[in-house]
Amino acid sequence: MRLLDTLWKALDERLELAPLVEFATHKEVPQHRHSWAYYFGGLTLFFFAVQVATGILLLLYYRPTAEAAFESVQFIVTRVPFGWLVRSVHSWSANLMILAAFVHMFSVYLLGSYAKPRELTWWSGFLLLGLAMGFGFSGYLLPWNELSFFATRIGTDMTSKVPLAGPWLLTFLRGGEEVTGATLTRFFGFHVAVLPMLSAGLLGLHLGLIQRQGMHVPGHLAEEARTRKPLRFLPNFVLREGVVWLFGLAVLAALAAFFPWELGNKADPFASAPAGIKPEWYFLFMFEALKLIPATVLGIEGELIGLGAFAVGGLVWFLVPVLDRASAHGRRSRLFLALGWGVLAYLVSFTVLSFLGAFQ
Ligand code: HEM
Repeated sequence: MRLLDTLWKALDERLELAPLVEFATHKEVPQHRHSWAYYFGGLTLFFFAVQVATGILLLLYYRPTAEAAFESVQFIVTRVPFGWLVRSVHSWSANLMILAAFVHMFSVYLLGSYAKPRELTWWSGFLLLGLAMGFGFSGYLLPWNELSFFATRIGTDMTSKVPLAGPWLLTFLRGGEEVTGATLTRFFGFHVAVLPMLSAGLLGLHLGLIQRQGMHVPGHLAEEARTRKPLRFLPNFVLREGVVWLFGLAVLAALAAFFPWELGNKADPFASAPAGIKPEWYFLFMFEALKLIPATVLGIEGELIGLGAFAVGGLVWFLVPVLDRASAHGRRSRLFLALGWGVLAYLVSFTVLSFLGAFQ
């Protein structure tokens, strides 16, 4: 104990830590009937931490070339002790992280937490979700198997439809005209260097803003929050969040152990694409909607119209804190509440219907 006291005193003298501890011990989290929503951002953070830890372990053996990538993953899952488990945890946790981020986004949206003064928190969160999907897309190609190869070919092909910049974007992503070893090396660079660096910066901003501004209490729950005793952040909220993390870990461990992530067959660029190929579940809402649009509408390519509509939709979602007039007064309007439920209904129904094979 004396050693710890001395260490603490030495650090405090140099870094003035006492005010930080004072802040953390006095910080409180409001309580009301929807305070369960405050745990989902933390759960997303937990899966992100799992991704970093397991990703570093995979890096010890993974080789990012078209000749060696598949074989190196095969080596990891068959020869490296617990390699199959690490890979399975990494793949499952990526999916759970994106799921948790979506639940988090819709819960903060429906509670109106994007309203003034939390616009920057909303924008940084939106970009973080974009990066998380980028992690998923770039990581999917890395094992260099059949499914990932053809899904990447279809996914990157979409970018060529972008007016003017399309062909340039396609070459930038693929490192050439086709999906080749150059694409794999690029995706590897995005996955382990560019995206982690951007995420670390944005995550710091997102979490810093939340610390600075405290948790949002929706207007209609303000009275309830006033009458209920707030939870102390340290130790009570942190301990409860810990229970949520343990639950997340249990689900992750069960999925990874009982349903090990498949590797499939090595990609063969000269083979024809397997029938019924689909992207990861979090892109299905876009993929299936694009398939429903006729090939040409009024002389314009259907896919272009679809992609344009998604770009506008994404921009509206991003700009919600400025488009919703009530946001300037710290509230969320009924119109935007309806929009949130509408978007959620669309995402869930298209994803579920796609799994049920309704769009064949
Ligand atoms: C992808 C990684 C993300 C991580 C790790 C993360 C993490 C967190 C954490 C720990 C909190 C505080 C606890 C809570 O309210 O749940 C929070 C709050 C918040 N997040 Fe995120 N978040 C992420 C993505 C998003 C997304 C996609 C959005 C929306 C577009 C978003 C918007 C917000 C907002 C507005 C708050 C403030 C909530 C309040 O004050 O009540 N976040 N985030």
